[in-house]
Amino acid sequence: MAHHILITDPVPESALEVLRQAKDITFDAPGKMERDQVLASVGTADGMIIRSGVKVDAEILAAATRLKVIARAGVGVDNVDLAEASKRGIAVMNTPAGNSVAAAELAIGLMLALARNIPAAHSSMAEGRWDRKTFMGTELRGKTLGLVGFGRIGQAVARRAAALEMRILAYDPYLPDATQAAKEVSVELVDLDTLYTQADYISLHAVTSAETRGLINQTSIAKMKKGVRVINVARGALIVADDLAAAIKSGQVAGAALDVYDPEPPPAGYPLVGLPEVVHVPHLGASTKEAQVAVGVEAAQLVVASLVDGIYKNVVNQDVLNR
Ligand code: MLT
Repeated sequence: MAHHILITDPVPESALEVLRQAKDITFDAPGKMERDQVLASVGTADGMIIRSGVKVDAEILAAATRLKVIARAGVGVDNVDLAEASKRGIAVMNTPAGNSVAAAELAIGLMLALARNIPAAHSSMAEGRWDRKTFMGTELRGKTLGLVGFGRIGQAVARRAAALEMRILAYDPYLPDATQAAKEVSVELVDLDTLYTQADYISLHAVTSAETRGLINQTSIAKMKKGVRVINVARGALIVADDLAAAIKSGQVAGAALDVYDPEPPPAGYPLVGLPEVVHVPHLGASTKEAQVAVGVEAAQLVVASLVDGIYKNVVNQDVLNR
C-alpha cells in the first residue's frame, strides 16, 4: 500500500519531485496549511513534511492515527511536541545542514548593518534626506566577536568573520570536537564569562533548552562590555526581551540585530521592535532559495527512506528508535 505524505508548508518543486520519483508514495501539498486544515487532513498521513508554520502539538498528533514520521525542513523542532511524538512511536527528523550558510550569511549581514547603520541610513535617504554625519560607523576589523554556540552555523559565521579580520571567541559546552573545529578557523574557545567581558559583538547560535532559555538577561548583560552589540538569528527565547531593551535604552548595549522573537510574530508593543538601535527582520535566517531547496529535498528524502526503506536518519527523538 502507498505511503501518504502531508506537506503543511510550501516546499520547493524539487522536493515534490523527490516524492514523485519515489515508489509507493502519494502526497498532498496544498501550500501553507492552517491548523484546522491540518487537523482535518492528518488522519490519512503516514508521514508529514513541515516547516515552522504549524505547531504539531498533542492534539494534532492524537488525530494523526497512522503517522510514523515527521520531517522538519529546517533545524528547529520547537514546533513539535517531541515527548508526545515519542509516546506515539513517531520519529521526528530534521535537516540541520541545508540552511547553515543562509543563517550564517544573515548573521554577518546583520553585524555589518549594525556596524554601519545601513538600515537607518537607507530609511533617512528614502525619506528625502542627505545626511552624512549621523551615520558614522565602526569597522569590524580588529573587533572581537563572541559566538555563543559553535555548531554548524557558529562555525560558518566564524569562517566569514575571520575574513573580516575579526578576533573570534566561542563558547560551546556541548560540542565534542569543538577544539578541532576551533583550530581550523582560529577561534579561541572560552568560558561564557570571558566571552561576555571581551566581545564587541555577541552572536547567538544555540538551541533553546532549559540552560539557554533567557541566557541574555539583566545579569549576563551586566557582565558584557559597555557598548556591546547583540545578534540573534537562533531563537527568540534565548533573550529576555525586556532586559535587552532596558540595556539598550541605558546605553550598556549599543544595539541589537534580531531575526527571531518569542513569540513569533512578536505582538504589538514587543519591547525590542521599533527601537532605533535595533535592526529587525522577520525570521529570514533560512529564507534563501538555495537553503529552501536543500532542506526541502533532504526532508523529502528522509521521509521516503524511512517509510519505504526503513532507514531512519537525523532522528531528533532518538528514544523512539529503541521501541
Ligand atoms: C530553522 O530552524 O531551520 C530556521 O529557524 C528556519 C525556519 O524556522 O524555517
